[in-house]
Amino acid sequence: MIQLELGQEYIPPYEADAIATVTQINERLLNQAEKPLVRRGEHGKGHGCIRGTLVVDLQVSTDPRLQVGLFKHPEQTFSVCIRFSNFSVKDDARGDVRGMAIKVFNVPGEKALDDEKDELTQDILLVDYPVFVVRNAKDYIDLFLEIERTQSRSPVRFFITGLNLFKWRWHELWIGIAYRLKTISSLLEVQYWSMTPYRLGKAAVKFTLIPSPGNIIGGFWRRLGPRSKDYLREGMRDHLRDRGATLDLLVQFQTDANKMPIEDPTIYWSSPFHKVATLVIPPQSFESPEQMSFCENLSFTPWHSLVDHQPLGGINRTRRVVYEQLSRMRNRLNGVEHREPSLAEFDAVYPPQ
Ligand code: HEM
Repeated sequence: MIQLELGQEYIPPYEADAIATVTQINERLLNQAEKPLVRRGEHGKGHGCIRGTLVVDLQVSTDPRLQVGLFKHPEQTFSVCIRFSNFSVKDDARGDVRGMAIKVFNVPGEKALDDEKDELTQDILLVDYPVFVVRNAKDYIDLFLEIERTQSRSPVRFFITGLNLFKWRWHELWIGIAYRLKTISSLLEVQYWSMTPYRLGKAAVKFTLIPSPGNIIGGFWRRLGPRSKDYLREGMRDHLRDRGATLDLLVQFQTDANKMPIEDPTIYWSSPFHKVATLVIPPQSFESPEQMSFCENLSFTPWHSLVDHQPLGGINRTRRVVYEQLSRMRNRLNGVEHREPSLAEFDAVYPPQ
């Protein structure tokens, strides 16, 4: 086994070929069936985009490791656009993981992508489960080829690889089952995780977003009563009609290079969390045709990032290529320009309150 230092990456020799194959698989996944709008191949069902403000926490000034990049200036505020999504299902009542993609506007500083050095956006991509279901690009190929072959959400042979029980992917199997069983009552009530690591200056961290208890509303009937296939969007509409929501953004440091690996996002990191910012979501409406179309045409990627928060690890290196090519292709098929929006363009569609 190769011994790595804290924050150090390891690029296996097969990776470039594997990334090319993952990209081809995702080109096939792109949902072209739903013309006139070609939707994302993964996280295709969007519940809508909403606006909010990210407020850097005062306590970052007590720890120099935290006061980096986006979190350099305590109490600084940034406007954000947040897109919520299901990973794979159209009916919200079915088990799945949910995505929360945050675009932070007007972030100064050098960005990670060579052709976007001077862009002003920083994206943070999270889902409502702490760990990813595959360890690397090679395993991703095995999983998605099995999904394609079986045309189902039960790629049993990826997990159960033969007669030898000791060779089964037990660890991934439990994560896959947890994804399939996961249903939620509200998008604003659950915790989200980045799953994969990022730089925070010289350190490596994972992000999490924890909802405030005040976000939880509704009684017994709302939780257990009949639900439409779009109840997550409807619930967010009802919630934001007359009240807001807040969530805390926290980071956890990699403190042990073996127990908290950079190159394997199926492993949960057990280090303590430190609050870096508060996400404040005001009451609003978000479902006009103009808003829904603005939202669907956006491109989120963990690589829309300050160098200070550069994504780490093989799954993130794979995402660098896949998200860039897929969102470019999706925008081209939908006849829209592929570029980052300005805050003024966002404000015009989602007016500040
Ligand atoms: C190799 C692994 C992965 C691949 C190939 C992959 C692929 C994709 C693709 C193709 C999209 C749609 C991109 C677009 O059309 O703009 C997407 C969206 C997304 N992915 Fe991944 N993904 C991977 C891992 C992850 C992980 C680890 C997370 C954990 C946070 C994640 C969270 C998301 C979210 C939240 C979205 C929706 C972004 C939006 O709202 O536009 N993905 N992914």
